[in-house]
Amino acid sequence: MIICSSLSDLEQAISSLSNDCKIGLVPTMGALHQGHISLVKTAFKYTDTVIVSIFVNPVQFNNPDDLKRYPRTVEADCRLLEDAGTTIVFIPSVEDIYPEPDNRVFDLGGLDSVGEGPRRPGHFNGVAKVVTRLFDLTKPTYAFFGEKDFQQLAIIRFFTRQLGYPVEIIPCPIFREDDGLAMSSRNTLLDSEQRNAAPAIYKALSNASRLADQRELSPKELIGITVREINSNPYLNSEYVEIVNSLTLQPVTGWDEAAGIQMWVAVFAGEIRLIDNIKLK
Ligand code: PAF
Repeated sequence: MIICSSLSDLEQAISSLSNDCKIGLVPTMGALHQGHISLVKTAFKYTDTVIVSIFVNPVQFNNPDDLKRYPRTVEADCRLLEDAGTTIVFIPSVEDIYPEPDNRVFDLGGLDSVGEGPRRPGHFNGVAKVVTRLFDLTKPTYAFFGEKDFQQLAIIRFFTRQLGYPVEIIPCPIFREDDGLAMSSRNTLLDSEQRNAAPAIYKALSNASRLADQRELSPKELIGITVREINSNPYLNSEYVEIVNSLTLQPVTGWDEAAGIQMWVAVFAGEIRLIDNIKLK
């Protein structure tokens, strides 16, 4: 595995690859877990050249405390990536990614008007800045993103197409702990009570999915039940629960309104904010 800590390292590593190789890019913010490793494994099904970037992107954090406490475990990350057979790990500095202030404002097609968008102003524009920069630097044929960030995935697909990047976006399924909690770098920040409580989020989503199958409750009623179930746990506090059209991401009021329907949630466990989602249709 080649470790690149600067742009020139990366240029050199990429120039040493054969001209016809297809690069698979797995962008991450580090603090890697088996969910990330599953992205790397999926990437190797598409290509034998996999670049993983580790960069805690400051411009996608709307909350300075969240940025400050974001876990950083680069040495352990490199060990995991080496074991997974990663070709190149790219660990740029902020100056590498943003040599000049990046004032670009992206057209996100209104997909940021719901869910995380209004709750984290500027977040998805910040994601677009770093992802396009990583595309420019690594010129991937494929890029891999987890479905845990369902809205992020839709938005990345949108701007990749909109801006004409010849990159195929490959969605990868949510990787869960045995108790159902969606794997996330933020899980390491939970204290033991919060960690014990957190699987209740997926339990509530799974109940919602079962109830949705029966079609007896409206989406609005199902949201109410899910919020109450999550908030009945003293360590959890739901910030939002929404039921949306999986393509347009707009809220639905009936089950026949869209071919694909997703429920997504953001939940606070103390100060730690967790997100998850489930397909309802
Ligand atoms: O999902 C993430 O970890 C980040 O948002 C990403 C895509 C690596 C961009 O910083």
